[in-house]
Amino acid sequence: MVWDIVSTLPMPQRNPFNRTRWRLTGYYAGVMGIILALCGVGYYQITEQMRLQALTQKIESSSGILHDSLGSVLLQPGRLNASVEGLLPGLCKPTVTCPEPDRFARRHVLGLVKQDVYYAQLKNLSGQTVATLGPSANYIPDKTVLDGWQIFTNSSGERFMQYSLLLETVDHKNWGYLQVGRSLSELDQELAEAQRFLLWGWPLVMLVVCGAGWWLAGLSLRPVQNAYQDMQRFTANAAHELRTPLSAAKATVDSVLELDNISEGEARKTLGTINRQVNRLTQLVQDLLLLTLIDTQHNRKGNRKACQLGLIINDVMDEFLALAHNAGLSLVAELDTTHPLFVQGDEEQLYQMIANLVINAIHYTPRGGDVVIRLDRDKKYAFVEVRDTGIGIPAEQQAQVFTRFYRVNRDRNRKTGGSGLGLAIAQAIALKHRGKISVQSHPNRGSTFCIYLPVLLS
Ligand SMILES: Nc1ncnc2c1ncn2[C@@H]1O[C@H](COP(=O)(O)OP(=O)(O)O)[C@@H](O)[C@H]1O
Ligand SMILES: [Mg+2]
Repeated sequence: MVWDIVSTLPMPQRNPFNRTRWRLTGYYAGVMGIILALCGVGYYQITEQMRLQALTQKIESSSGILHDSLGSVLLQPGRLNASVEGLLPGLCKPTVTCPEPDRFARRHVLGLVKQDVYYAQLKNLSGQTVATLGPSANYIPDKTVLDGWQIFTNSSGERFMQYSLLLETVDHKNWGYLQVGRSLSELDQELAEAQRFLLWGWPLVMLVVCGAGWWLAGLSLRPVQNAYQDMQRFTANAAHELRTPLSAAKATVDSVLELDNISEGEARKTLGTINRQVNRLTQLVQDLLLLTLIDTQHNRKGNRKACQLGLIINDVMDEFLALAHNAGLSLVAELDTTHPLFVQGDEEQLYQMIANLVINAIHYTPRGGDVVIRLDRDKKYAFVEVRDTGIGIPAEQQAQVFTRFYRVNRDRNRKTGGSGLGLAIAQAIALKHRGKISVQSHPNRGSTFCIYLPVLLS
């Protein structure tokens, strides 16, 4: 069978699809990778900003309280007095041994300093440290900015955040500077962890994304791949079908050309043979053109109008009665002429669809058999049933008879001269008219093909 030969042809199209699949996976993974990386970086930066903002607010409010409290007790610029030391117990002067921080922690006006990470510094107007508060003050460099915000790193790589502001004495002279700050080591640790998580997580997530991309690309390419394979099979089958009558005609011509003389009878016989092959070719080309037209007309309306199915069936009857008669068959139409049934469609194509079923019924029913065309309807659909008492179709092949170029058994069908496109055309027309076609058949008892088409209500 041509079908078998062609379906086992090597498939050179697999490579382009594989390449496309790789490419699609690459694009998908690339886009997802960039989106994920941007999300990761964004998340990291937003987290850092939010945490720094929270710390800024804490430091700012504490330094404000300290600034106001000190403003009411500072007397001489750059000098500490007893009231200051009373206000800030645990204050440590550079020249004196500092007390244990914990002893003072609970009584401190600056509640924050009880946490090890916070510190405060008092500096005179020339920037020299007058006193410090909090253990982490020991780890910050001597020289820092004396005004506003600063984030700096000390000699051991620890980051600090610090706010500096000018202090005034009770009589509004400049006293020196207050610096309140804290270590950012806790935040830096968290950020480093987040960084590690993102750096390790990203490749892992990308692996999953690549896998998903590969799978999705395969899934979305499958219909295209199937359509492409169908098209290749169709072209190969069409070429094969076209070659057969052409070769036959050529062989006939060659054999005649080898003769020196031919009689008129032989000439007529030869021309008759060539004519049959040309007719076959013409029919095949017509079928191919019709299929192409139906395939490419999906979204166009074509020559659609309200068509009365009863009239179309009558035309089919008129055309095939003689053929049926010559084949020794009875061809009958069962129509309810009192209730005309209309469907929206292309009249020529509807005619072709029913005609194809009737031709088959005539071809595949032995002499003495019956072919009946019946028209009926339910609420939504009109059915055209073509029933015969012919050779039937084996159950396992019934689903395939609508496939292009498929013939149940080439030998058994040789006499009919078809090419396996009749039912494919009928099905394509039914689908185009939002209908469907089905078959029920029993070998040696007959077949019933039924076309369902949506009825035009008005
Ligand atoms: N009424 C029928 N009875 C038995 N077999 C049929 C009938 N109609 C179609 N078939 C089978 O289905 C195949 C496909 O039909 P079709 O597409 O019309 O192609 P073709 O008639 O050119 O062979 C036929 O080759 C035939 O074997
Ligand atoms: Mg046919």
